[in-house]
Amino acid sequence: MSLNYRDRIPNNVDLGTNRSLQRALEHWQPKFLTWWQDLGPEGFQAADVYLRTATSVDAKGWATYGKVKMPDYRWGIFLAEQTADRRIGFGDFYGKPAWDQVPGDFRSTLRRLIVTQGDTEPASVEQQRLLGQICPSLYDLRNLFQVNVEEGRHLWAMVYLLHAYFGRDGREEAEELLARHSGDADKPRILGTFNEPISDWLSFYMFTYFTDRDGKFQLKSLAESGFDPLARTCQFMLTEEAHHMFVGETGIGRVIRRTLEVMDEINSDDPEALRKAGAIDLPTVQKYLNFWFSSSLDLFGSDVSSNAATVFANGLKGRPDEGRYEDHVCVEDVFDLDKPDGKGGVETETVPLRNAMNEVTRNAYVKDCMIGVKRWNRSIAKAGKPFELTLPSTRFRRQIGSWAGFSVMPDGTPIDEEAWNARVNEWLPTEADQQFVHSLMRQVTAPGKMASWIAPPDRGINNLPVDYEYVHLG
Ligand SMILES: [Fe+2]
Ligand SMILES: [Fe+2]
Repeated sequence: MSLNYRDRIPNNVDLGTNRSLQRALEHWQPKFLTWWQDLGPEGFQAADVYLRTATSVDAKGWATYGKVKMPDYRWGIFLAEQTADRRIGFGDFYGKPAWDQVPGDFRSTLRRLIVTQGDTEPASVEQQRLLGQICPSLYDLRNLFQVNVEEGRHLWAMVYLLHAYFGRDGREEAEELLARHSGDADKPRILGTFNEPISDWLSFYMFTYFTDRDGKFQLKSLAESGFDPLARTCQFMLTEEAHHMFVGETGIGRVIRRTLEVMDEINSDDPEALRKAGAIDLPTVQKYLNFWFSSSLDLFGSDVSSNAATVFANGLKGRPDEGRYEDHVCVEDVFDLDKPDGKGGVETETVPLRNAMNEVTRNAYVKDCMIGVKRWNRSIAKAGKPFELTLPSTRFRRQIGSWAGFSVMPDGTPIDEEAWNARVNEWLPTEADQQFVHSLMRQVTAPGKMASWIAPPDRGINNLPVDYEYVHLG
């Protein structure tokens, strides 16, 4: 199969002039397309979808809109523009010139970082593959597919790095990225959250709000990397990631808005009455939030981590927005961490800052998560309802780090297992909650129509009206 790379794969890496790289990608591309057909959005491969495609990195080209069938989407390869004389911004090599090639000593570590990031991209497409069949509107269906094709592009971005810089092992890793599958018993995806099923749209919005935001912070850390091609790749990916979190934030906001409307319509805030009227009660929204937030927190890794210290020291993975710190070397500083004291309480442990880099990034993430929560609460307060959504404590329901396996209430209070078992149904979605949410999920595909449980968006995509036919089912 031969491809005209300039037309077929928009890129700014001179693909057309590098024969061996072209050959490697030509070999991989049909496997990607087979994967997309098998594990991408089920039932919509022939639909015409109003999608944004990046055709260059400048303001004009990165968001080109038009109707396209997803298998014909032009998955491009883009790196942000190179900064002249870029220097490594942190760690032991601080101030030295950034690397254009993989430094030999860090080859396997860098490859692992790229593979771990790359693995999440197709994983989320797999997790979301059946959601189209229960979409609440054509507008939402289109947003789902936009997220899916861009996660596909992010996979391309990582596969490009593997093929272009890691030779044979890179090509093998690129194959493995299509061989592991979300939730697969034998070959699961690398990170836990990416094996959780996303089988309803409330979970999808929670995922795009909380888990894509983890992606944002991982990309921000890698955008600081001393390995310049990785840094530039991740910088460009961040422009697309913003839309994914927008889908989550506005999705949850619209669910809440609809619930508030129904509260007024039936003049009740009784969860059962609301459910009967086809809306999702706010305590259920809180439980889903608790689940996806706590699951996403684990993605940042252990709070004390020699691995995190090493990748920071070696200039491979920095802190998000490294530029806002004064000290970029961090050999003197320490960090105070909360951990269980072994007697049912909490104690503080002081560790070298470099070993706490995961926690530094996690804290920045938590702060960012608060923005949407505040916005949702404002809409609840404005409607005059006495309910407030909260982010649970970072100790709640952790499976990684010093709180892993400990029973902790959402407010951060450690409790014993018996107390946990007695109350867990107040905090996390029960089977009955999930069944109820599922029962609401019926496909709505008339242009402009919304499912009973969600309010319409404030505006459409790219200045089009909300009732535009964003997906032509054909
Ligand atoms: Fe992504
Ligand atoms: Fe994303």
